[in-house]
Amino acid sequence: MIGIFDSGLGGLSVLAAIARALPGADLTFLADTANMPYGPRSNAFIRGRVLAIGHHLADLGCGMIVVACNTATAAAVQALRAELPKLPVVGVEPGVKPAAKTSPRKHIAVLATESTSRSDRLARLIRTHCEGVQVDIAPCPNWATRVEALNFTEPAFVASVKDTVEPLLAAGADRLVLGCTHYGFLAPVLNPLVAGRAELVDVAEAVARQAVRRAGSAAQGRGRLVLEATARPEALPRALNGLGLGWLAERSHEPPRLVGV
Ligand code: DGL
Repeated sequence: MIGIFDSGLGGLSVLAAIARALPGADLTFLADTANMPYGPRSNAFIRGRVLAIGHHLADLGCGMIVVACNTATAAAVQALRAELPKLPVVGVEPGVKPAAKTSPRKHIAVLATESTSRSDRLARLIRTHCEGVQVDIAPCPNWATRVEALNFTEPAFVASVKDTVEPLLAAGADRLVLGCTHYGFLAPVLNPLVAGRAELVDVAEAVARQAVRRAGSAAQGRGRLVLEATARPEALPRALNGLGLGWLAERSHEPPRLVGV
């Protein structure tokens, strides 16, 4: 069994990619909805959540853990690996490397939560992969919360997304890195804004490929999905449908569970 978690719904994009890549694997997805959003939280708080959830998934019998959250990865993936040395732990990092490699103008922008934007891990990623590339970092407070509420097509929000993205495009950025797993679900809002000027870079499929490489026997199973949440588990099936992932609900044979992690 593979355990996958996020603060909320964003990790569903990674879950979907893993479910497509490993149709026979048993998957447990945990949304830490009682503590979402992670973006404005301290590193210490996020680390506490990551370790508690990691232990919970390991205790359930997960043979691999996927941290389907850039914010949690930046703050605590090393701590989780140190805490659970026998389990493969796969994290998510903003796709700075593919963006820098493919950017025609050598100018990229990273859209991320407040916490990821100021993280040492992002700074290191940029130092390693972006020599000669201009990198703008745009913290996007509230974007993940909008996705969580399935409320992101409202005109005032679309206008605020445009206010964030337009200056980046006007300055010449031609790759916009989606540095938060929630933002992939904003593609219908972002695509018309960037059309013909820039490309969005999402890493959900790359993370799934890495999960396939690392899973080993954790990929064995009967293709079942268990959904868990730390608050409002009943909202998960509706969210799957609202985010175009209704097919995933068919993999789950029991109602979503409320867990007190
Ligand atoms: N989905 C998370 C990420 O990838 C964080 C969203 C949040 O809880 O602020 O960064």
